[in-house]
Amino acid sequence: MTSPPTASEQRRSVTGRDIALVESVTAHNYHPLPVVIASGQGAWVTDVDGKRYLDCLAGYSALNFGHAHPQILAAARAQLERLTLTSRAFHNDQLGPFSRDLAALAGMDLVLPMNTGAEAVETAIKVSRKWGYDVKGVARDRATIIVTEGNFHGRTTTIVSFSTDPVAREGFGPFTPGFRIVPFGDAAAIEAAIDEDTVAVMVEPVQGEAGVQVPPEGYLRQVREICSRRGVLFVADEIQTGLGRTGSTFACDLEDVVPDIYVLGKALGGGVVPVSAVLSSREVLGVLTPGSHGSTFGGNPLACAVGHAVVRLLETGEIQARAAELGRRLRSRLDTLVGHGVVAVRTRGLWAGVDIDPALMTARELCERLLTRGVLAKDTHGSTVRLAPPLVISPEDLSWMVDQIAEVLATA
Ligand SMILES: Cc1ncc(COP(=O)(O)O)c(C=O)c1O
Repeated sequence: MTSPPTASEQRRSVTGRDIALVESVTAHNYHPLPVVIASGQGAWVTDVDGKRYLDCLAGYSALNFGHAHPQILAAARAQLERLTLTSRAFHNDQLGPFSRDLAALAGMDLVLPMNTGAEAVETAIKVSRKWGYDVKGVARDRATIIVTEGNFHGRTTTIVSFSTDPVAREGFGPFTPGFRIVPFGDAAAIEAAIDEDTVAVMVEPVQGEAGVQVPPEGYLRQVREICSRRGVLFVADEIQTGLGRTGSTFACDLEDVVPDIYVLGKALGGGVVPVSAVLSSREVLGVLTPGSHGSTFGGNPLACAVGHAVVRLLETGEIQARAAELGRRLRSRLDTLVGHGVVAVRTRGLWAGVDIDPALMTARELCERLLTRGVLAKDTHGSTVRLAPPLVISPEDLSWMVDQIAEVLATA
């Protein structure tokens, strides 16, 4: 095992110099691993000192198709030369075809394009509330939305208002009212929390940030059934679970469930530009009228061209099948580590939460040691490592990644 560079070696390297610059001129709202990436191709990236790493985080699934995917880049380049921004004050020729094909992929009527995931979640909240007032008949300003413990839906003030992570909330009050929090994976708790003011239930089909927490089998089906029976919208935040990661187009597909609203982001931008969207029926998205919601950059032609390339890549189902197959391999390899430094493994498609034995090391320490071996992964909640390599990763590279984890744990 290569030992990590000493402090003086690091200062001398380009990496050390670049990190020092960033630390001195940017807010410290992140604690990145000490690597400065300069280029990427497929599942691999190269740092400013020329060292290569296997990217096993893939921008929290924003890079499902890997770095520099040829079809996505070609679409971006072609559009870059033609037209990049119009605002929604005018039409552009990319929004229609992109939205038509995205809606068809999801089996929904309408698309509302935004940019970041948090904006799309905010959009889903606003739409759900307005649907509650205009269609369901909830009394003005009384609407509630049910969310789950351990949720991660973004960082805006409204969204952190219903976070259960103290670090995400501390110092950011006063908070937005109108949310009820129930345990994740507990459909009976959702049923009990619904009253006449409830307009929506918003869940991540698998909680990513919480450590790839997979709900009990049948949970999404139960949520669907409860929402339909009680006249409440089922909002699936598939920003991280959607678009191939779990071995299907949407994680809801795994339980043959269609929500009322899909919230998409991350991979929709092909790792090139931020593209998010809210998809729903005419009845639901139809509550919006000109001026009631919008975004200068949402639906811009560059974003739409890139998003359209992503939709085309998903239309054949190949990448989803690949994720499912590679996910099976990943799972069987990771299972062999349980009892050997790993306490538990949770997977859905090519996505894993691996709980490291805290007696051995923290997940952060594991990620730091993996870094020296050329593997990029990210810790969460102290003892969990998240693995979400690009879906284009080769089986050999995937296997090599697990070898690195096994060796780090064996030599701890
Ligand atoms: C499920 C989920 N929702 C929303 C978000 C927020 O997305 P963004 O960081 O693009 O605002 C994330 C980001 O990690 C996410 O995983």
